[in-house]
Amino acid sequence: MAGILEVKTRLATARSVTVLTGAGISADSGVPTFRGADGLWRNFRAEDLATPGAFARDPRLVWEWYNWRRELIATRKPNPAHDAVAAMERRFSRFWLITQNVDGLHRDAGSTRLSEIHGNIWKVRCTACGRIEDNRQVPIPILPVCTLCHKLVRPHIVWFGESLAAEDLATSHAALESCDVLLIIGTSGMVYPAASFAPVAKSAGAFVVEINLDATPNSDLVDVALQGHAKDIVPLLL
Ligand code: OAD
Repeated sequence: MAGILEVKTRLATARSVTVLTGAGISADSGVPTFRGADGLWRNFRAEDLATPGAFARDPRLVWEWYNWRRELIATRKPNPAHDAVAAMERRFSRFWLITQNVDGLHRDAGSTRLSEIHGNIWKVRCTACGRIEDNRQVPIPILPVCTLCHKLVRPHIVWFGESLAAEDLATSHAALESCDVLLIIGTSGMVYPAASFAPVAKSAGAFVVEINLDATPNSDLVDVALQGHAKDIVPLLL
């Protein structure tokens, strides 16, 4: 495929690499994406399920939806694209992964230098004391409570209308502004602030590559756009 050789050459001389991923990298593991033909937001209303207001109105409904997603994700495994991203972390001494995915599949593949900027579906956060806990129960008993203060917990996920953690934003910007190469894998580029990450890296001088099944709003500004399945393309870049 035209462009792969150029990306490989850039990576061969890169000292610092940053990767940004979205739901498309996990699509090859059988995790549904959000937009597109079979996307979750085609069949569910985000405002009923993934906002602070929705949880305040009906925490049971929100937890039932997250339980359904936890059940689905629990049966899924990382694919060769997740494995290749984990291998890049071992290859480059300066490497950072920014993922919008909450499924935890990058960690399962062995990635450790990462910011999960939208949270993690396997963590819960207390609505009263703020304590964050790992929780792998499938199904999680509804309604789940904090082990410390016994108040309601919520998914540790950044919902629509909420801000990213300041530390994740700062770490992401540092990684975007200092990288030689940015790989953007399987994201529609529709959700901010991640949608602004390609221009941030580009204007800081990075060589920017997109890997996606389709063209996205990022496609025109990247140096190379590789169209196809992440599981087929990402392993070829190493
Ligand atoms: P989207 O569902 O918006 O976009 C998925 C992208 O992956 C699309 O551009 C597809 O073309 C591409 N894609 C699908 N299958 C692919 C494959 N096998 N290989 C490569 N690319 C593929 O998902 P995100 O961009 O991640 O927020 O969405 C961003 C955020 O919106 C999510 O993190 C989620 C959602 O609301 C939260 O849950 C907080």
